[in-house]
Formats: sequence, structure tokens, C-alpha cells
Amino acid sequence: MVDVQLRVNGTIETLDLRPRVSLLDALREHLGLTGTKKGCDQGACGACTVLVDGERINSCLTLAVQYTGRSITTIEGVAGGGEPHPLQTAFIRNDGFQCGYCTSGQICSAIGMLAEHAAGAPSAVTEHLASRAELTDVEIRERMSGNLCRCGAYNGIADAIGEVAAAAAVQEVTETGAVRRGSAAGAARQATTAEAAR
Ligand code: FES
Ligand code: FES
Repeated sequence: MVDVQLRVNGTIETLDLRPRVSLLDALREHLGLTGTKKGCDQGACGACTVLVDGERINSCLTLAVQYTGRSITTIEGVAGGGEPHPLQTAFIRNDGFQCGYCTSGQICSAIGMLAEHAAGAPSAVTEHLASRAELTDVEIRERMSGNLCRCGAYNGIADAIGEVAAAAAVQEVTETGAVRRGSAAGAARQATTAEAAR
């Protein structure tokens, strides 16, 4: 057994785990955070997606011991200030789910994806690498292709993410460079910002 200390949704958690326990099982079975789902348990579906220091990962493919001292955000931690995350609201508004089993992973993945996009990361369908790609429907679907939905709610999922991304197109950056509330980049950072404020 090994001691593992994780910062999960702003709370330091110390666990006594077998070294081979996955991060997914540590979250679900040891911390009771069952919002993160186990679909395939082999990295194929994205249902287990969480954020580590703001980057999306498949928690079923990693060991909890790898993340000692790291900051983990699950679906339980994405809301902030008593308000749902803008993506959570957008998923509801756009019918971005049916059974909901994939939804936690979809939303965590979308938060990470928007942060990647805001940082200028291209995707496999980005045509011009010299500038940041517009988040078209094709771009969103490619960037979210690691998250499967067996209910086939892809249209609503893409629309929800597109709605939040569209806010970025009209966002104004202040003279100090701060991103205004409501922008996609701001939405993407909200989870980690809210966590850091705890
Ligand atoms: S449960 Fe992790 S990718 Fe499917
Ligand atoms: S809403 Fe059912 S698997 Fe996606």
C-alpha cells in the first residue's frame, strides 16, 4: 500500500492505495465521486475524462499514484460560485445528452478542449497552422472525437460546445488582457479558477 495525496476539487485527499489502483477507481471507489463514469476502462470511450491541472485525461488509463500533488477537477468541481459551469447550462439548453452516462466526461473534455483551443493548439482537421483555428462544427467534433456517446446525442453536444465557443468570438479582452466573464476561454478556465479560489 502507498500513501497518495491528491488535490481533488480543491480539497486535499490522502488515500492509502494499492499502487495499481487507477485514478478513476480512486475517485469513484475511494472518494465516492461517482460523477466520473467507467465505460470501457481501456481508454476508448472518454466517459472517465477528468482534468489534471486543467488538462483533460482518461482517468481509467492512469494510476492514482502518478498524480500525487497534482490538482484534479471532476464534474463535481466544475461549477463555481453556486452557478453551474456555462457548459453544463449549454448542454441542458441544447439537449446535449439522453441517458447522461457520457455527459460528465463530455463536459470535462470540452472544458479541456476549449482551453487547448484558447492556447492555440491545432487539431487533425485544422487547415492553417499559423493561426488559431475557428471552432467550427467540424473542429469541435474532431477535437471531441475521443468522447463517445452511445445515445448518439452528438448534434446537441456539438451545438452546446459551439454555443459556448461562439461566446469567444464576441469576447472582448480588456486592456490588461483579462478575459471577460462569459467568454469560451473564460468558461474553459472556470473550473480551475474556481478550484484555485477554494
Ligand atoms: S472508461 Fe476510460 S476511456 Fe472509457
Ligand atoms: S447521453 Fe447516453 S451515452 Fe451519451
